[in-house]
Amino acid sequence: MADLDDLREGNKFGLGQTVKNQTFHIKGADNLSWGMKDRMTRIFNPKSGKSVMLAFDHGFIMGPTSGVERIDINIAPLMPYADVLMCSRGILQTSVPANTNKPICLRADAGTTILTELNNNVVIDIEDAIRMNVSAMAVMMAIGDPKMEAITVANLDRTADLGSKYGIPVMGVTAVGTDMARDARYFGLASRVCAENGANIVKTYYCEGFANVVAACPVPIVIAGGKKLPELDALELCYKAINDGAAGVDMGRNVFQSEDPVAMIQAVHALIHDNMSPAHAFEMFKDLKK
Ligand code: 5RP
Repeated sequence: MADLDDLREGNKFGLGQTVKNQTFHIKGADNLSWGMKDRMTRIFNPKSGKSVMLAFDHGFIMGPTSGVERIDINIAPLMPYADVLMCSRGILQTSVPANTNKPICLRADAGTTILTELNNNVVIDIEDAIRMNVSAMAVMMAIGDPKMEAITVANLDRTADLGSKYGIPVMGVTAVGTDMARDARYFGLASRVCAENGANIVKTYYCEGFANVVAACPVPIVIAGGKKLPELDALELCYKAINDGAAGVDMGRNVFQSEDPVAMIQAVHALIHDNMSPAHAFEMFKDLKK
C-alpha cells in the first residue's frame, strides 16, 4: 500500500488540450494490435470517433425488468439504430439474430443478482467469447467495496490478459454501490483504475466535474444512462457528457423504457454522431414518435 500521507488532489488536467503523440482515431489505442484496433473501430465510428451502445444486459442481475421482458419484441426493433449491442451470452445466443451484424460488447462476468450481496463474480470462458465473435468484453469493477474491490480488479486483469492475447478489447464498468460516492473524485479514481488495469474502454456515470474524469482516463469513456429520465433530460445528459469529452453512451433504460424507444435511440444517435443539440434532438424525438 502506498503511503497515503499528504495524498494530493490532481489539478493539472490540461482541459482543452488534445491528447499528444496520437495518430489512431481512438484514445489510448495507438499501440494496440491490428485485431484490437479493428474491433475498436467497429465500436467507435472512424468519422465521429463516437459510439451509441445499446445496453440490455440488465436481466443478468435483475431478471425481466421493465423494457427487457421480451428481447424479440422490445429490443430487436432498436438494434438497427445502435452502433454496438451490449448483452449477456444467454441473450446473445437466444435472442439476437446472428444476421444482425452489429458489434457485440459481451457482458463477460457473472455471479451476482439483486437478491444477494455483490459476490465473487466469475469471468466467462474466453473461447466462448471468441466463438461468438464479440468485439469487446465488459467486466464490472467494484472500486471502493472492501470485500469485492480486489476480486473485481483481479477479474478485470485476467480478462485484459485474455483480451490482449486474442485481440478482444475489454470494457471496465465502474459499479455504483449504495455506500459509494457519485462524484468526479470517485468516478475519476474508478475510471483510472480500470484503465491502469488494462481496460481499453471505460463505462462510468456522468457527474459534475466530468471533464476531469475524462481527461485523466487514458482510454475512451462511455456513460451509462442510469435510471429513466424524461427524454429531454436524458438527451441533455448525453450532450453534457459528450461536451466534456465522453466517446459515447452505453445506454439502456433511457432508451428501452422511453415512451418511444425507436424514436429515442435515433435522437440519441443524431446527438452523439451529428453534434445535434438536446433541443434539436428532442424535436427529432417528437417528430419520430408514433
Ligand atoms: C450495469 C450495466 C448496465 O448495462 C448499465 O447500467 C447501462 O444501462 P442503463 O443506461 O440502464 O444504466 O452495465 O452494470
